[in-house]
Amino acid sequence: MKVPRPVIKRMPVYYRCLERLKNEGVKYVSSQKLARRLHLKDSQIRKDLSHFGKFGKRGVGYEVESLLNDITKILGLHKQWKVIVVGAGNIGKAIARFRALEKNNFKVVAVFDTDKRKIGTELLPGLKILDIANLRDFVSRERADLAILAVPASSAQAVANDLQKAGIRGILCFAPVTLSCAIPVEYVDITAFLKTLAYSVLTEKYNM
Ligand code: NAI
Repeated sequence: MKVPRPVIKRMPVYYRCLERLKNEGVKYVSSQKLARRLHLKDSQIRKDLSHFGKFGKRGVGYEVESLLNDITKILGLHKQWKVIVVGAGNIGKAIARFRALEKNNFKVVAVFDTDKRKIGTELLPGLKILDIANLRDFVSRERADLAILAVPASSAQAVANDLQKAGIRGILCFAPVTLSCAIPVEYVDITAFLKTLAYSVLTEKYNM
């Protein structure tokens, strides 16, 4: 049975909370305590986790490290994902330099661009901006898994087509477009988040 998308979207939130509990030295946590930390219902957490198996013991709760390991496997974070960034502009450069990615097992292995002035320059030690013409060779040679798309909207679909042909398995798209792709795509759009936030602020009812 397919796991509902909202459940999948909450799994990294559980992961982050459990990681913090582990760092605090907490060994066991109940669904109630997790729920309080995350402002969710405990029944929601138990239901979400039940999609992936049986976790925790009645009266004891979840063993933090063990549940963290299980969620690590569910999300595929026990292996390192090789990530390429396409578009070495403001967004692409900032992401390529974002150290939290590697800590979470997403390693940026290359950054591509079309701009001859940028190609060959080094973003980080060992991470040069490469010519997009070498995309296909690079992806098949290095077995890159995922791509972060940070090119202008006008070239996003064409680049996405090339990424699929090259063998990339999933795309995180920053360009403000909806891509037509046969592989999974996730979108990041700060303006869309702000729009929904603006709506929430406008329609919020205060219970004071
Ligand atoms: P930028 O103009 O600074 O960088 C774009 C880079 O893509 C340039 O280096 C350019 O040479 C390169 N490029 C253009 N065509 C290419 C191609 N076919 N192949 C490879 N590289 C190519 O733009 P910026 O500010 O970094 O934004 C990048 C994208 O992210 C844009 O689509 C922008 O609208 C979007 N964006 C999204 C945000 C979000 O919240 N998701 C926030 C800000 C920007």
